[in-house]
Amino acid sequence: MTQKSWSLAIHGGAGTMSPDVMTDAQQREYKAALQAALDAGAAVLARGGAALDAVEAAIVVLEDDPHFNAGRGAVFTYEGVNELDASIMDGRDRSAGAVTGVTHVKNPVKLARAVMEDSPHVFLSREGAEQFAREQGLEIVDAAWFATPERRRQLEELKAKKLSWFDVDLKYGTVGAVAVDSEGHAAAATSTGGLTGKRWGRIGDSPVIGAGNYADDRACAVSATGAGEFFIRAGVAHEICARMRLLGEDAQTAADAVIAEVGKMGGDGGVIVAAPNGTTVFSFNTPGMYRGRADSNGRSEVAIFAGE
Ligand code: GLY
Repeated sequence: MTQKSWSLAIHGGAGTMSPDVMTDAQQREYKAALQAALDAGAAVLARGGAALDAVEAAIVVLEDDPHFNAGRGAVFTYEGVNELDASIMDGRDRSAGAVTGVTHVKNPVKLARAVMEDSPHVFLSREGAEQFAREQGLEIVDAAWFATPERRRQLEELKAKKLSWFDVDLKYGTVGAVAVDSEGHAAAATSTGGLTGKRWGRIGDSPVIGAGNYADDRACAVSATGAGEFFIRAGVAHEICARMRLLGEDAQTAADAVIAEVGKMGGDGGVIVAAPNGTTVFSFNTPGMYRGRADSNGRSEVAIFAGE
């Protein structure tokens, strides 16, 4: 029996990481964390599972891992709270779910999926989203679950040096996953704590369908990481899918063109894209992006820096 093809890509955020500032031990730690998420998603696809289940499985691992700015290990708001955003999209029918500003839901990606599948809505926020999570029986945790000393230190550094939100190293630590399953269906999921020191209920691109996340079987699945304001203004995830669908561009051409546009606008970051033909691509204009990809041909690789 020939194995039906599938593909998966993940990211753990784009930023200023470089071999000069990351020790070998740190690089090994991050790569092991990425590999665990990649393996969780790949296991779903390898047994014939759905792209939607694969992206959720990969994101749950990344949300639970304090290395990444999503779920546990999320960055702090200016007021010292972890406010979490997430989204998920099913390329079969373009159904989607998203949440913003949740503070007690252990896995925001599961809540986004519940919004998509068990509510008549696409986007829920803050207390309402939390109430919906409780009604759905999702796991609720004390806010302390998300807090880590390193993220607190980053907030204190930002305040002490009066830095802007965009000045903190490794700032765009969003996580994401895109997949195409053996039935040819695409899905994308993205989860984040947003930006260190964010204020006034600021929402980035990650939970905004079409900006930080999009999936359409006719084109591709995209998850973004970066300076969310620019990704919202450029409509990054939808724009990449639209270029592939309407202009016939391949995934790399479309992703590079849109990231170049974001760069021209003044934004940093990157995307992962999975196309129905089995291609997975990365595009980013930062020195690095935590990333990985796997497919039914036996590929399974993770990387951090540009050029790897
Ligand atoms: N890309 C994550 C954010 O801007 O919130």
